[in-house]
Amino acid sequence: MTAPLTIDEIMRLSPVIPVLVIEDIAHAVPLGRALVAGGLPVLEITLRTPVAMDCIERMAGEIEGAVVGAGTVISPQMRRAAAAVGAKFCVSPGLVPGETAGGPAPLLPGVATASELIAGLAAGFTRFKLFPANVVGGVDALKAFASPFQQAKFCPTGGVSAKNAPDYLALPNVICVGGSWVAPADAVKAGDWGRITELARQAAALVRT
Ligand code: 3PG
Repeated sequence: MTAPLTIDEIMRLSPVIPVLVIEDIAHAVPLGRALVAGGLPVLEITLRTPVAMDCIERMAGEIEGAVVGAGTVISPQMRRAAAAVGAKFCVSPGLVPGETAGGPAPLLPGVATASELIAGLAAGFTRFKLFPANVVGGVDALKAFASPFQQAKFCPTGGVSAKNAPDYLALPNVICVGGSWVAPADAVKAGDWGRITELARQAAALVRT
């Protein structure tokens, strides 16, 4: 059995982590396959819909090459439940009280301020989601965090798009970005998997400089 991937290893698999809100379980596998086909293997399924856990279980079991994780994880119970259905990682919009870097399904906690970064580092984390990235200072905030927090690396998420993703990816303390733009709700609803594969292909071609 191979060792589980660390959050750092998962963040380095592709420059963009799609953030997915799946309303209909019938969309889960074709949507995931479309993104993986375009070159985005890391998939974050947000726990915001009643079918989210079932989607994770199905996608983790059925999509070859996908690394499926849970998003919007705001309690230890949600992390445990996601890991139990096959999530390989968890993402939170903030610091989850009581959660540390160890344990099942490595956690990428969200931070927005220096104080939150200090609390996250004290809990053993060195990889963070900057959230909501465009609201809390975006590229300038990450540049400002680079010197005092040299051990911290980020996945900015929230307001990231094809247009501004290259600016984030050019920063030395950014490993990848997260965003929903690669899976527009109208394309998912229409089952336009070709369009989603094309958006994924463009996102996968973004390079860290
Ligand atoms: C989220 O949690 O919804 C993510 O931050 C996605 O944000 P976006 O829709 O702005 O990409």
